[in-house]
Amino acid sequence: MTPHPGSLDSRRFPRSSRYHPDWVRSSISGGAHSLWLTEWLSEVIDLRPGMRVLDLGCGRGASSVFLHREFGVQVWSTDLWFSVDERAQRIRDAGVEDGVFPIHADARALPFARDFFDVVVSVDSYVYYGTDDLYLGYLARLVKPGGQIGIAGAGVVQETPVDPPSHLRHWWEPSLACLHAPEWWHRHWSRSGIVDVERADAMDEGWRLWLQWQRAVAPDNKPEIQALEADRGRYLGYVRAVARRRHDVELDDPITSVPVAYRQQPLLVGDSSTARRPDAPVPTPQERA
Ligand SMILES: C[S@@+](CC[C@H](N)C(=O)[O-])C[C@H]1O[C@@H](n2cnc3c(N)ncnc32)[C@H](O)[C@@H]1O
Repeated sequence: MTPHPGSLDSRRFPRSSRYHPDWVRSSISGGAHSLWLTEWLSEVIDLRPGMRVLDLGCGRGASSVFLHREFGVQVWSTDLWFSVDERAQRIRDAGVEDGVFPIHADARALPFARDFFDVVVSVDSYVYYGTDDLYLGYLARLVKPGGQIGIAGAGVVQETPVDPPSHLRHWWEPSLACLHAPEWWHRHWSRSGIVDVERADAMDEGWRLWLQWQRAVAPDNKPEIQALEADRGRYLGYVRAVARRRHDVELDDPITSVPVAYRQQPLLVGDSSTARRPDAPVPTPQERA
Protein backbone atom coordinates (compact mmCIF):
# COMPACT_ATOMS: atom_id res chain seq x y z
CA MET A 1 0.00 0.00 0.00
CA THR A 2 1.35 3.46 -0.91
CA PRO A 3 1.89 5.50 2.28
CA HIS A 4 0.12 8.80 2.75
CA PRO A 5 2.42 11.55 1.36
CA GLY A 6 2.90 13.13 4.80
CA SER A 7 3.34 9.85 6.65
CA LEU A 8 6.43 8.75 8.51
CA ASP A 9 5.08 5.23 8.98
CA SER A 10 6.82 2.31 7.39
CA ARG A 11 5.95 -1.30 7.99
CA ARG A 12 9.50 -2.04 6.91
CA PHE A 13 10.73 -0.40 10.14
CA PRO A 14 8.48 -1.42 13.05
CA ARG A 15 10.83 -0.20 15.78
CA SER A 16 11.08 3.28 14.23
CA SER A 17 7.33 3.50 13.75
CA ARG A 18 6.85 3.48 17.52
CA TYR A 19 8.54 6.89 17.84
CA HIS A 20 6.21 9.87 17.79
CA PRO A 21 6.27 11.68 14.40
CA ASP A 22 6.57 15.03 16.20
CA TRP A 23 9.65 13.79 18.07
CA VAL A 24 11.15 12.50 14.83
CA ARG A 25 10.45 15.78 13.05
CA SER A 26 11.84 17.84 15.93
CA SER A 27 15.16 16.03 15.65
CA ILE A 28 15.62 16.30 11.88
CA SER A 29 19.27 16.95 11.12
CA GLY A 30 19.62 15.96 7.50
CA GLY A 31 17.93 14.59 4.44
CA ALA A 32 16.95 11.16 5.76
CA HIS A 33 14.87 9.50 8.46
CA SER A 34 17.68 8.66 10.86
CA LEU A 35 15.67 6.00 12.70
CA TRP A 36 14.86 4.09 9.50
CA LEU A 37 18.53 4.05 8.57
CA THR A 38 19.63 3.13 12.10
CA GLU A 39 17.10 0.29 12.26
CA TRP A 40 18.24 -0.94 8.86
CA LEU A 41 21.86 -0.88 9.99
CA SER A 42 21.03 -2.59 13.29
CA GLU A 43 19.76 -5.62 11.34
CA VAL A 44 23.34 -6.46 10.36
CA ILE A 45 25.28 -5.36 13.46
CA ASP A 46 25.65 -7.25 16.74
CA LEU A 47 24.27 -4.95 19.41
CA ARG A 48 24.09 -6.33 22.94
CA PRO A 49 23.15 -4.60 26.20
CA GLY A 50 26.02 -2.75 27.81
CA MET A 51 28.10 -2.50 24.66
CA ARG A 52 29.90 0.79 24.03
CA VAL A 53 28.75 2.36 20.77
CA LEU A 54 30.07 5.45 19.03
CA ASP A 55 27.25 7.15 17.07
CA LEU A 56 29.40 9.26 14.77
CA GLY A 57 27.79 12.27 13.08
CA CYS A 58 24.57 11.69 15.02
CA GLY A 59 23.17 15.16 14.25
CA ARG A 60 20.56 16.03 16.86
CA GLY A 61 20.86 12.60 18.43
CA ALA A 62 17.64 10.71 17.58
CA SER A 63 19.64 7.68 16.44
CA SER A 64 21.57 7.66 19.73
CA VAL A 65 18.38 7.65 21.82
CA PHE A 66 16.99 4.93 19.56
CA LEU A 67 20.07 2.70 19.85
CA HIS A 68 20.08 2.93 23.63
CA ARG A 69 16.35 2.35 24.03
CA GLU A 70 16.09 -0.47 21.51
CA PHE A 71 19.28 -2.40 22.28
CA GLY A 72 20.39 -1.34 25.76
CA VAL A 73 23.78 -0.18 24.48
CA GLN A 74 25.70 2.80 25.88
CA VAL A 75 26.03 5.47 23.21
CA TRP A 76 28.59 8.23 22.77
CA SER A 77 26.42 10.59 20.73
CA THR A 78 28.99 12.55 18.74
CA ASP A 79 28.52 15.32 16.22
CA LEU A 80 30.18 18.44 14.85
CA TRP A 81 27.59 20.77 13.31
CA PHE A 82 24.70 20.53 15.77
CA SER A 83 24.55 21.96 19.28
CA VAL A 84 25.64 19.52 21.95
CA ASP A 85 23.43 21.32 24.48
CA GLU A 86 20.28 20.87 22.42
CA ARG A 87 21.15 17.19 22.03
CA ALA A 88 21.79 16.86 25.76
CA GLN A 89 18.32 18.27 26.47
CA ARG A 90 16.73 15.82 24.00
CA ILE A 91 18.60 12.98 25.70
CA ARG A 92 17.46 14.11 29.18
CA ASP A 93 13.87 14.51 28.01
CA ALA A 94 13.96 10.98 26.62
CA GLY A 95 15.11 9.80 30.07
CA VAL A 96 18.27 8.15 28.76
CA GLU A 97 21.03 10.39 30.11
CA ASP A 98 22.56 7.46 32.00
CA GLY A 99 23.23 5.67 28.74
CA VAL A 100 23.62 8.32 26.04
CA PHE A 101 26.52 10.77 26.31
CA PRO A 102 26.52 13.89 24.12
CA ILE A 103 29.91 14.85 22.71
CA HIS A 104 30.87 17.73 20.44
CA ALA A 105 33.77 16.59 18.28
CA ASP A 106 35.16 16.47 14.78
CA ALA A 107 35.31 12.97 13.32
CA ARG A 108 38.92 13.69 12.39
CA ALA A 109 39.92 14.58 15.95
CA LEU A 110 38.01 12.24 18.21
CA PRO A 111 38.66 12.41 21.96
CA PHE A 112 38.45 8.67 22.65
CA ALA A 113 40.93 6.04 23.71
CA ARG A 114 42.20 3.26 21.49
CA ASP A 115 40.02 0.08 21.56
CA PHE A 116 37.34 1.87 23.60
CA PHE A 117 34.25 0.98 21.54
CA ASP A 118 32.58 -2.31 20.69
CA VAL A 119 30.82 -0.79 17.70
CA VAL A 120 30.86 2.40 15.63
CA VAL A 121 27.77 3.41 13.69
CA SER A 122 27.46 6.38 11.40
CA VAL A 123 24.13 7.33 9.92
CA ASP A 124 24.00 9.56 6.86
CA SER A 125 27.26 11.17 7.89
CA TYR A 126 30.31 9.06 6.99
CA VAL A 127 30.57 10.44 3.44
CA TYR A 128 31.64 13.81 4.87
CA TYR A 129 34.99 12.41 6.07
CA GLY A 130 35.13 8.67 5.39
CA THR A 131 35.96 8.72 1.67
CA ASP A 132 39.51 9.71 2.67
CA ASP A 133 41.65 6.59 2.14
CA LEU A 134 43.34 7.06 5.49
CA TYR A 135 40.22 7.64 7.58
CA LEU A 136 39.22 4.04 8.26
CA GLY A 137 42.61 3.37 9.82
CA TYR A 138 42.18 6.37 12.08
CA LEU A 139 38.67 5.35 13.17
CA ALA A 140 39.28 1.63 13.48
CA ARG A 141 41.83 2.19 16.28
CA LEU A 142 38.95 3.27 18.50
CA VAL A 143 37.11 -0.04 18.03
CA LYS A 144 38.21 -3.22 19.78
CA PRO A 145 39.74 -5.84 17.48
CA GLY A 146 36.75 -7.88 16.29
CA GLY A 147 34.39 -4.92 16.75
CA GLN A 148 32.16 -3.65 13.96
CA ILE A 149 31.93 -0.39 12.05
CA GLY A 150 28.66 0.22 10.24
CA ILE A 151 27.52 3.04 8.02
CA ALA A 152 24.19 3.74 6.34
CA GLY A 153 23.01 6.71 4.38
CA ALA A 154 21.93 8.28 1.16
CA GLY A 155 24.05 7.04 -1.70
CA VAL A 156 23.90 5.62 -5.17
CA VAL A 157 23.12 2.05 -6.10
CA GLN A 158 25.60 2.23 -8.99
CA GLU A 159 28.48 4.67 -9.43
CA THR A 160 27.49 7.79 -11.36
CA PRO A 161 29.33 8.74 -14.56
CA VAL A 162 31.82 11.62 -14.48
CA ASP A 163 29.10 13.98 -15.72
CA PRO A 164 25.90 13.59 -13.68
CA PRO A 165 23.12 11.69 -15.48
CA SER A 166 20.94 14.13 -17.47
CA HIS A 167 17.77 13.40 -15.49
CA LEU A 168 19.57 14.42 -12.25
CA ARG A 169 21.34 17.54 -13.55
CA HIS A 170 18.81 20.08 -12.23
CA TRP A 171 19.42 18.82 -8.68
CA TRP A 172 23.03 17.68 -8.79
CA GLU A 173 25.76 19.72 -7.16
CA PRO A 174 29.52 19.08 -6.90
CA SER A 175 29.42 17.86 -3.29
CA LEU A 176 27.23 14.92 -4.36
CA ALA A 177 30.39 13.37 -5.74
CA CYS A 178 30.76 11.89 -2.24
CA LEU A 179 27.79 9.55 -2.83
CA HIS A 180 29.00 6.06 -3.59
CA ALA A 181 27.65 2.62 -4.42
CA PRO A 182 27.93 -0.50 -2.22
CA GLU A 183 30.67 -1.98 -4.42
CA TRP A 184 32.69 1.20 -4.03
CA TRP A 185 32.49 0.99 -0.24
CA HIS A 186 33.37 -2.69 -0.34
CA ARG A 187 36.52 -1.98 -2.29
CA HIS A 188 37.37 1.20 -0.38
CA TRP A 189 37.34 -0.64 2.95
CA SER A 190 38.70 -3.99 1.75
CA ARG A 191 41.82 -2.50 0.21
CA SER A 192 42.73 -0.86 3.54
CA GLY A 193 43.59 -4.34 4.83
CA ILE A 194 42.33 -3.26 8.26
CA VAL A 195 38.86 -4.78 8.27
CA ASP A 196 36.86 -7.66 6.86
CA VAL A 197 33.86 -6.28 5.01
CA GLU A 198 30.77 -8.23 6.03
CA ARG A 199 28.13 -6.33 4.14
CA ALA A 200 27.83 -3.66 1.46
CA ASP A 201 24.40 -3.38 -0.07
CA ALA A 202 21.58 -1.07 -1.07
CA MET A 203 18.16 -0.96 0.54
CA ASP A 204 15.50 -2.71 -1.46
CA GLU A 205 13.36 0.08 -3.00
CA GLY A 206 15.21 2.56 -0.82
CA TRP A 207 14.44 5.41 -3.18
CA ARG A 208 10.74 5.06 -2.34
CA LEU A 209 11.47 5.61 1.36
CA TRP A 210 13.77 8.54 0.51
CA LEU A 211 10.89 10.01 -1.51
CA GLN A 212 8.36 9.31 1.26
CA TRP A 213 10.60 11.11 3.75
CA GLN A 214 11.11 14.13 1.48
CA ARG A 215 7.40 14.42 0.76
CA ALA A 216 6.62 14.19 4.47
CA VAL A 217 9.16 16.64 5.89
CA ALA A 218 10.21 18.87 2.98
CA PRO A 219 7.36 18.93 0.42
CA ASP A 220 8.73 22.23 -0.97
CA ASN A 221 12.06 20.63 -1.84
CA LYS A 222 10.92 20.14 -5.44
CA PRO A 223 14.36 19.64 -7.02
CA GLU A 224 15.14 16.64 -4.80
CA ILE A 225 11.61 15.21 -5.05
CA GLN A 226 11.66 15.55 -8.83
CA ALA A 227 15.10 13.98 -9.02
CA LEU A 228 13.91 10.96 -7.03
CA GLU A 229 10.74 10.66 -9.12
CA ALA A 230 12.68 10.85 -12.38
CA ASP A 231 15.38 8.46 -11.23
CA ARG A 232 13.11 5.76 -9.72
CA GLY A 233 16.03 4.03 -8.05
CA ARG A 234 18.30 3.85 -11.08
CA TYR A 235 21.03 5.70 -9.17
CA LEU A 236 19.64 7.14 -5.95
CA GLY A 237 19.03 5.00 -2.92
CA TYR A 238 20.15 4.11 0.58
CA VAL A 239 23.43 2.31 1.00
CA ARG A 240 24.99 0.55 3.98
CA ALA A 241 28.29 -1.12 4.72
CA VAL A 242 29.50 -3.10 7.73
CA ALA A 243 33.02 -4.24 8.46
CA ARG A 244 34.80 -5.92 11.34
CA ARG A 245 38.21 -4.80 12.59
CA ARG A 246 40.74 -7.53 12.01
CA HIS A 247 42.57 -9.06 14.97
CA ASP A 248 45.81 -9.58 13.09
CA VAL A 249 46.51 -6.01 11.98
CA GLU A 250 48.34 -3.60 14.28
CA LEU A 251 47.08 -0.04 13.78
CA ASP A 252 49.49 2.87 14.10
CA ASP A 253 48.59 5.98 16.02
CA PRO A 254 47.93 8.90 13.67
CA ILE A 255 50.89 11.17 13.02
CA THR A 256 50.22 14.48 14.73
CA SER A 257 53.75 15.86 14.68
CA VAL A 258 57.23 14.87 13.56
CA PRO A 259 60.02 16.06 15.92
CA VAL A 260 62.70 18.03 14.08
CA ALA A 261 65.55 20.42 15.00
CA TYR A 262 66.53 23.24 12.67
CA ARG A 263 70.12 23.36 11.42
CA GLN A 264 71.17 26.15 9.14
CA GLN A 265 72.65 25.13 5.76
CA PRO A 266 73.92 27.03 2.68
CA LEU A 267 70.91 27.79 0.55
CA LEU A 268 72.39 27.37 -2.94
CA VAL A 269 74.91 24.87 -4.31
CA GLY A 270 78.41 26.43 -4.57
CA ASP A 271 77.38 29.68 -2.88
CA SER A 272 77.87 29.25 0.83
CA SER A 273 78.03 33.08 1.30
CA THR A 274 74.24 33.30 0.82
CA ALA A 275 73.68 31.45 4.07
CA ARG A 276 73.19 33.85 6.99
CA ARG A 277 74.77 33.45 10.41
CA PRO A 278 71.99 32.94 12.95
CA ASP A 279 72.59 36.43 14.43
CA ALA A 280 73.14 38.28 11.10
CA PRO A 281 70.60 40.92 10.06
CA VAL A 282 68.39 40.00 7.13
CA PRO A 283 70.04 41.48 3.97
CA THR A 284 68.07 44.09 2.04
CA PRO A 285 67.26 43.46 -1.64
CA GLN A 286 69.95 46.07 -2.58
CA GLU A 287 72.59 44.20 -0.54
CA ARG A 288 71.59 40.96 -2.17
CA ALA A 289 71.88 42.43 -5.69
C1 LIG B 1 23.15 14.77 6.95
S1 LIG B 1 23.54 15.02 8.63
C2 LIG B 1 22.96 13.52 9.37
C3 LIG B 1 22.74 13.65 10.83
C4 LIG B 1 22.10 12.43 11.49
N1 LIG B 1 23.00 11.32 11.57
C5 LIG B 1 20.85 12.05 10.74
O1 LIG B 1 20.85 11.01 10.09
O2 LIG B 1 19.88 12.80 10.82
C6 LIG B 1 25.30 14.84 8.61
C7 LIG B 1 25.93 14.91 9.99
O3 LIG B 1 27.30 14.63 9.84
C8 LIG B 1 27.98 15.42 10.79
N2 LIG B 1 29.36 15.64 10.37
C9 LIG B 1 29.81 16.10 9.18
N3 LIG B 1 31.14 16.23 9.21
C10 LIG B 1 31.53 15.85 10.45
C11 LIG B 1 32.78 15.75 11.10
N4 LIG B 1 33.92 16.10 10.47
N5 LIG B 1 32.81 15.32 12.37
C12 LIG B 1 31.68 14.97 13.02
N6 LIG B 1 30.46 15.03 12.45
C13 LIG B 1 30.39 15.47 11.18
C14 LIG B 1 27.25 16.72 10.84
O4 LIG B 1 27.48 17.37 12.06
C15 LIG B 1 25.80 16.28 10.61
O5 LIG B 1 25.10 16.18 11.80
